[in-house]
Amino acid sequence: MTTATPTGTASTPLGVGLPDPELIARLANELFAARPGDPPDARPQAPAGETFNTAGVPGVQSVPADANLPASTAPSDAELRDLPASLAVPPGLAVPAGGASAPAGLSATPRLPGVPGFYFLDRAAPAATPEVPGSHDIGLGEGVPGLTTDARPFDPHAVRRDFPILREEIHGKPLVWLDNGATTQKPQSVIDRISCFYEHENSNIHRAAHELAARAEDAYEGAREKVRHFVNAPSPREIIFVRGSTEGINLVAKSWGHRYVGKDDEIVITWLEHHANIVPWQQLCAEKGAVLRVAPVDDSGQVILEEYEKLLNARTKIVSLTHVSNALGTITPAREMIAMAHRHGARVLLDGAQSVPHKRFDVQELDCDWFVFSGHKMFAPTGIGAVYGKEDLLNETPPWQGGGNMIVDVTFEKTIYQPAPSRFEAGTGNIADAVGLGAAIDYLDRIGMENITRYEHVLLEYATGLLNQVPGLRIYGTAKEKAGVLSFTLAGFESVEVGKALDREGIAVRAGHHCAQPILRRFGLESTVRASLALYNTCEDIDRLVAALLKIRSTRGG
Ligand code: ALA
Repeated sequence: MTTATPTGTASTPLGVGLPDPELIARLANELFAARPGDPPDARPQAPAGETFNTAGVPGVQSVPADANLPASTAPSDAELRDLPASLAVPPGLAVPAGGASAPAGLSATPRLPGVPGFYFLDRAAPAATPEVPGSHDIGLGEGVPGLTTDARPFDPHAVRRDFPILREEIHGKPLVWLDNGATTQKPQSVIDRISCFYEHENSNIHRAAHELAARAEDAYEGAREKVRHFVNAPSPREIIFVRGSTEGINLVAKSWGHRYVGKDDEIVITWLEHHANIVPWQQLCAEKGAVLRVAPVDDSGQVILEEYEKLLNARTKIVSLTHVSNALGTITPAREMIAMAHRHGARVLLDGAQSVPHKRFDVQELDCDWFVFSGHKMFAPTGIGAVYGKEDLLNETPPWQGGGNMIVDVTFEKTIYQPAPSRFEAGTGNIADAVGLGAAIDYLDRIGMENITRYEHVLLEYATGLLNQVPGLRIYGTAKEKAGVLSFTLAGFESVEVGKALDREGIAVRAGHHCAQPILRRFGLESTVRASLALYNTCEDIDRLVAALLKIRSTRGG
């Protein structure tokens, strides 16, 4: 059982625990200052009736979290209705029109200054919450009305307490983990489940041999069933454990692709793809004399559907596309693209590496032929992931690796293979980490994917709003449908330089090409800084990021 450890910080104007009020004042002044060319109403305004804060920082309000809002700052129905769609307050986060105080769990401070009605999670330390036996990893607390876990409120501050590494200090500063696109941190329940496996169940999975073998097999097959449920596959026979998305795509390219793609056949991908969804297809094309076609994206980073459709024809054997771009955050119109490909008789592989931690998934609704994902991007261990494939398709595909566990019978003359999934799981699998993946799915189930999607959407809007106010910062990836990825450049600075400077502030982001060079080059870039969000990130994390970026800029007198 984890002990709840509230962070115990006071409500502060820009970030928690920033050391130097003068620096904060200077940075905040810069953040909120009018810039040449700004239209008169572009600057954030303090709502009528609110005072400016300590240190005389204009535009940054300091309101005690339990303060009643002056009635004049409460949004009217008309104001709520007129909010730009991108800032719409999701159900459960809106302040009731005419209300005089912020609801429990919402900050009394408008989170996007100048945007009426947009309130956010209370940035003050959450109240210590009583431990409930057996539910330490769910995330309890006052939370946000309308966002619930197991009928309890969703509270990102409480969720954070489930992740021990988030208590780490980096270079003397509390860790801000914004590199979730690369990998996510692990909740205590996943860590405990893996320890439990090694303490009580560890064996290879040949159940007839002995008791521990039976326990290990039960745990491993139990995890397969959890993955089935997680992606809503009809049968656990359609779930193959692999190392991760990269191995999953290679499995399909080198087994199905090797058998069914021939000379002059066409393979369609998009400009958004990670190298893992480019290179295996290039290799296949080189081997078979097939042709790789690439669907372009518009300036927002969204696939241009009309251009995509023009690429499809009777020679198209397979479309392989990402569900969420790791470099830009674009959520592709996967369902529509899959249906279009099927109309032309092509198979479709959907790469879910970046979508699984953010969105509920349903392979039957999407009707993809294969779906691949990595456990480590959804709070499970590294080295484990899964391929979903339609059962008939899997069974008409030859194995790509040979060895133990995948055979019915072997003679020197010939081998008879098992049906799926065993035919694709040669050798001893990553049993313990598959069990850890099952525990991560349990964790996400308890929190509720819908809660996560809604919360991250609000956090993305908050981060986008603030980052756009940092002078010289440009965000790449502005598609309407977007997951929590903020890829940006800062004028006058190399991305790697920014990444290193952020690291010195305790903030982890990825800087570089994100294994997606073609899409960055589409925008004339070789690298960006990428902050990627997960359910345990908070407004304070974003405030720390923005303050650090302003500090970095100030080193060059910008
Ligand atoms: N694919 C991972 C990323 O985008 C490693 O960072």
